[in-house]
Amino acid sequence: MRIGLFGGSFDPIHKGHLSIIKGAINNGDVDIVIVIPTVRNSFKRGKVLSAAPYRYFMTKAVIESEFSGNKVLVSDAEFSIPGISYTVSTLKKITSMNYLVPFLTYNGIKPKKALEEHTFFWLCGSDILPSFTHWYKPEEIISMAGLLVALRPGEECDIYEERERISKEFGFEANIESFVIDGVEVASSEVRITKDYEDVPKVAQEFIKTHNLYADKEVMDAVSDEAAEKFFLMAADLYEYLGEKRLLHTINVGLLSAKYALIHGADVDKALIAGLLHDCAKELEPQVQRDYAKERCGDTFADKKLLHSPAGAVFAKKRFDVDDEDILNAITYHTTGHGGATLLDKIVFLADKLEPARTYTDLTEMREVALSDIDAALRLCVGAVRKKFETQGRDIHPKTLEFMNALGV
Ligand SMILES: [Fe+2]
Ligand SMILES: [Fe+2]
Repeated sequence: MRIGLFGGSFDPIHKGHLSIIKGAINNGDVDIVIVIPTVRNSFKRGKVLSAAPYRYFMTKAVIESEFSGNKVLVSDAEFSIPGISYTVSTLKKITSMNYLVPFLTYNGIKPKKALEEHTFFWLCGSDILPSFTHWYKPEEIISMAGLLVALRPGEECDIYEERERISKEFGFEANIESFVIDGVEVASSEVRITKDYEDVPKVAQEFIKTHNLYADKEVMDAVSDEAAEKFFLMAADLYEYLGEKRLLHTINVGLLSAKYALIHGADVDKALIAGLLHDCAKELEPQVQRDYAKERCGDTFADKKLLHSPAGAVFAKKRFDVDDEDILNAITYHTTGHGGATLLDKIVFLADKLEPARTYTDLTEMREVALSDIDAALRLCVGAVRKKFETQGRDIHPKTLEFMNALGV
């Protein structure tokens, strides 16, 4: 097969991206396209971009809604490539039969087709051509995949000349072809700033709304470079341990915790990391959760639903090298609260209940109060829990009782 590979940040994916994919397929230049959202961007862009799981799942949702069948696939390959995402390392992984054959067959391509010898093309715009020879290991890139350049109608770019120039520089014939697409010109960076979503597919618009993307730029601005880098790397690493819904939830909690910390004067860096990791142990094997919970707190948390909180503190330490006790305590007590809760503990507890994707009850009032008074919002939240437990005749965990008493609920 002729396989088009389309890498990018997709923050957000927009109609310009879709026109490149559609153009390549409709012109018959490629048989299928594999879309590959970047995961570990170089840090400078990392602070500007959204966490990788947002971009990956948003892209996947859009592609699945726009293209039926298996002509366009989305790959999560970059999550399992350590270090900064370079095109050359992504290509090496994607084009290896060890990766490609299971990936294609999993996505419904017949094994016979998946096992064919394939030709690969890197889909791109003409804007990359002038700087392509300065990319990281460009000769290796072009020996694995030709460049398939999308040209908008009327765009002035002499592909023949570019091919000559690049081939001369490399000392071998570079495979560079072009195709013409509909003239949609959009820049994701502009979309993030203007929040004009006219050229963003509906499914992506819904995703942006649900997770409140691009809304609180000042929060990431207030986070230190070091914490921001950790946040983006950890968010990508968590992909291995959590399913889609919980992963997006836990990233939302990290960002909302940081927002509350900024408003209420807590440590923004600690809030971001504690919120991000609060549910990190929730999908570990039950026995591992029990062992970790015991290691942190003895038998305080016997209930199955609560185990992941203390277990999360241990996993955060072992897997993510977090040794800050303030962060570890906020993770430990995020389900129960406790009598001596710090502002950070309270923030993570509340952000877990109020993050933007939560819809279990009408949270409008609590969300509004949380912006001005964390304790008042907690009293609303914990008060409702107390009522529910008392009506159902259920026991309240001693740590939660301490928490309620300290809040005066
Ligand atoms: Fe939790
Ligand atoms: Fe949670």
